[in-house]
Amino acid sequence: MDKNFKRTTVTSALPYANGPVHIGHLAGVYVPADIYVRYLRLKGRDVLFIGGSDEHGVPVTIRARKEGITVQEVVDRYHNLIKDSFERFGISFDVYSRTTSKTHHKLASDFFKKLYDEGKFVERVSEQFYDEQTGHFLTDRNIRGECPRCHTADAYGDQCEHCGATLSPEELINPYNAETGNPLVKRETKHWYLPLDKDQAWLEKWILEDHKEWRPNVYGQCKSWLDGGLHPRAVTRDLDWGIPVPVEGAEGKVLYVWFDAPIGYISNTKELCDAHPELGSWETWWKDPETRLVHFIGKDNIVFHCIVFPAMLKAHGEYILPDNVPSNEFLNLEGNKISTSKNYAVWLNEYLDELPDRQDELRYVLTANAPETKDNDFTWADFQARCNNELVAVYGNFVNRALQLTQKYYEGRVPECGELNDYDRETLAEFQGVKEKLESLLENFKFRDAQKEAMNLARIGNKYIADCEPWKVIKTDSDRVRTIIYISLQLTANLAIAFEPFLPFSSKRLRDMLAMDEFQWDWLGRTDLLPTDKQLNKPSLLFSKIEDDVIAFQQQKLADTIKANEAANYKAEPIKDTISFDDFQKLDIRVGTVLECERVPKMKKLLKFRIADGSSPSTGAGVGSRTIVSGISQWYEPEQLIGKQVLFVANLAPREFKNGLVSEGMILSAENYDGTISVTTVEHEVKPGSQIS
Ligand code: 2FM
Ligand code: ZN
Repeated sequence: MDKNFKRTTVTSALPYANGPVHIGHLAGVYVPADIYVRYLRLKGRDVLFIGGSDEHGVPVTIRARKEGITVQEVVDRYHNLIKDSFERFGISFDVYSRTTSKTHHKLASDFFKKLYDEGKFVERVSEQFYDEQTGHFLTDRNIRGECPRCHTADAYGDQCEHCGATLSPEELINPYNAETGNPLVKRETKHWYLPLDKDQAWLEKWILEDHKEWRPNVYGQCKSWLDGGLHPRAVTRDLDWGIPVPVEGAEGKVLYVWFDAPIGYISNTKELCDAHPELGSWETWWKDPETRLVHFIGKDNIVFHCIVFPAMLKAHGEYILPDNVPSNEFLNLEGNKISTSKNYAVWLNEYLDELPDRQDELRYVLTANAPETKDNDFTWADFQARCNNELVAVYGNFVNRALQLTQKYYEGRVPECGELNDYDRETLAEFQGVKEKLESLLENFKFRDAQKEAMNLARIGNKYIADCEPWKVIKTDSDRVRTIIYISLQLTANLAIAFEPFLPFSSKRLRDMLAMDEFQWDWLGRTDLLPTDKQLNKPSLLFSKIEDDVIAFQQQKLADTIKANEAANYKAEPIKDTISFDDFQKLDIRVGTVLECERVPKMKKLLKFRIADGSSPSTGAGVGSRTIVSGISQWYEPEQLIGKQVLFVANLAPREFKNGLVSEGMILSAENYDGTISVTTVEHEVKPGSQIS
């Protein structure tokens, strides 16, 4: 860290209180932020870790409508759920507050008022869609209408989900209020804009010249915004949920959620410091140039944290600007986009309930697979493999061997170190370089590589003990074994420190086993962390295997969600052109009874039916029947269909298959939304050959 900084304010994006947090949020923002903060604390640095819920904006109001409850109820429910899940997961916020707090309303309102009074905004009147019956202006998402391209009746104001067109509400034919169905009219409305065009020059210098060290994805996104030229952005909205605009004549208007949310970081710091005077004034954490400000965010938040919020802070005049904005890319889930609205996610609260005491396993995998430079994919199979092959087989195995052998040979006391041989010295030299590497990676926000480096320490230990085979050597050279165990125990103690920022739960358990009451980051690399004769506590396994059924359950849950979404989104094919009654009369649909049904050799999809069709028997005995071939073998076992009465088209021209088989008609089946097939049948048994009319 730059020597000029005395303290660090770390913020992590305030999640919308419109649903629980999921692994995408964790991998993108909260796990890396927590690693960083834990590391700084362990280094003895002054740091505050600020979190909270974002409780304004449209998403929470949509959720309230969906669930038929008030917006306040929505934000209360999810704020509490999110706060509790973060706590259980070990995200070590110093404060986790909310943007509906009094402190925040006042601070955000005052912030706006100061800028307003100083003439920092521009006022603009524009035409927006308005529902005259409810008296509301509408946001793009709440406007629907006919798509100008594909003419689907219910395209959204920003997109048509049927043909995929990106739209603006103006383009919709006959726009209406998505909620009430009322037609909309255009009405003038006044809003306040932050004239970002005036910030272009200093932002270009500050980001593009002075912050070349920002991650390439962040820098690149800023550059493309700046290259495109900045424009004034509205900071108010016509909504009834949010912080009222503190200006006369602004009734019915609130601060835009992206104006108030980042100020939430400041409000939450104030709440914390006001309650804990020992932390100093909140202003020190936000206004002193010796404070380093770091924002952890997801990639969809880059423009707000790198351009808009800094412009607000600068316009205010008293605040420091962020020194870095480590933003991650997105995490996908089993190859699909994570989606709160589609319920397609691994929700943190459910994970904590369904895989109890496995916080570190998830933290480990999310960091090992963190989307630091590109979008990444989380799969349950990879989760299981990493837990079992790395945490259990490498880290856990090494620690367990070292501790069990200490119990077995020395009743749990640290033995004396004898003379080192070349292999001992090589091993120690290798692991002593780890501290510097780890620090440099952590300081540069490369958490994935940093965790790899910590795991490397465990690999060194695992290899050392496996190569030295103390369980064999004990028979011939007990002095040598003392040294092997001594070194292994020191490596173990080092692991407890190195992994503390990443895997705080298992580090704590390990320190308890080692009776290590004190520890500091700077002790990393030392070989005297556990003095000779120190009595250790009874060991237990640090990690246990993730069994197949746990993974299968989670995979099934996701598959079920996909199915449910497909069913919910299913839209039947448009009805075909109208036909005349005469045309209909041409079709001869009959009921037949399946007499025989069998698979067709070499033609995997086909079932061959013999169907009683009511015709006269050709031989003069038994019942008349015909052969029909149908491509439904994927959905039915032949014996399931024998005896069933099915509908079939009796006057379809015969069709010959490659192998000479001739089908004399077609069995009618329904194709479900997911492509599965169900044959049609009749409600009561009827005579074969009965006509459908
Ligand atoms: O994208 C989001 O989930 C926003 N609620 C993040 C806000 S970050 C900050 F500005 F509060
Ligand atoms: Zn369309």
